[in-house]
Amino acid sequence: MSGELSPIDKAKFVAAKRAVDYVEDGMRVGLGTGSTAAWMIRCLGELVREDGLNIRGVPTSTRTAQLASEVGIEVISLDEARWLDITIDGADEFDGDLNLIKGGGGALLQEKIVATASDRMVVIADLGKEVERLGAFPLPVEVIPFGWQTTKSLLEEMLVSMDVLGRETTLRMNGDHAYVTDEGNYIIDLHLGRIGNPRQLALVLNQIPGVVENGLFVDICDIVVLGHGDGRVETRDINEGTVETDRLDFVEAENLFSDMAD
Ligand code: 5RP
Repeated sequence: MSGELSPIDKAKFVAAKRAVDYVEDGMRVGLGTGSTAAWMIRCLGELVREDGLNIRGVPTSTRTAQLASEVGIEVISLDEARWLDITIDGADEFDGDLNLIKGGGGALLQEKIVATASDRMVVIADLGKEVERLGAFPLPVEVIPFGWQTTKSLLEEMLVSMDVLGRETTLRMNGDHAYVTDEGNYIIDLHLGRIGNPRQLALVLNQIPGVVENGLFVDICDIVVLGHGDGRVETRDINEGTVETDRLDFVEAENLFSDMAD
C-alpha cells in the first residue's frame, strides 16, 4: 500500500508520524488543517483507537473537526479547552527562524488563535516548504467582506512602504465566487515574492481596518519536523537549538493508507 504514495506524501506522512510522539496521555491538542495535518490526525486516531491514548483535540477548521471525529478523537472547542498543551499543524513556508506563512488552506485565523494558545507549536512539513526568505508563497490575509475592495486598496497602498519584491494582491476565489472562510470572511492573497521583515509586515497588516488576521506566524512555532520521501525525518527545535535526524518505517502505517482522503 505504501508503494502507492508519492515521495511528497511519504514525506508528509513520516513528519506527521514523528510529530505525534510529542503527544502524551491527557493532553489537549490543537489539530491543524491541510494535507500534512490530515496525516497527523490519522496517526493520532490510530493511537486513540489502538493504544487507548486519551486526548482531546481542538480543530482549526470544520474539515479538520470532521476528520478528527471520524478517526475517533474527542473534539472540543477552544473555549472548552481554554489552553492547549501542543498544536501540530502544517505550513506553506518556513524560514530558518521557524517563522511561517500559513493559510494556503484558508484556515489561518483559527490556526493562529489555536497555535498561540498552545504551550508548544510543532509544524510538520516536507522539504518543499523550507525557504531562505518567506514570500514566494502568496501571503493570505483574512478580511471581512464589508468593503473588501477598499481594504484591498489599503493593503496595496501600505505595501508601497514595505520591504517586499512584489505588490500584486488577489481576492481568493472558489469557482465564480469569493472563497469564504469558516468565519464567513474573504481572503486576499499578497504576491510579495520576498518578505524582508516578516515581523514588521505582520504588525502593520493587522493595523488596517477590515483585516482580521494575516498568515505570518512570527515567534509562534517551536519545532519543525521535516519529512523526506525516503523516510528520513529531521526535527529542528528553535528553543533548544537542536537538530535530530531519524528514519521511519512505512510498514507500520499501512492501515492508515487505506482511507486516505486528502
Ligand atoms: C491551512 C494551512 C496549511 O497548514 C498549509 O496550507 C499547508 O497545507 P498542506 O499540508 O496541505 O501543504 O495553513 O490554512
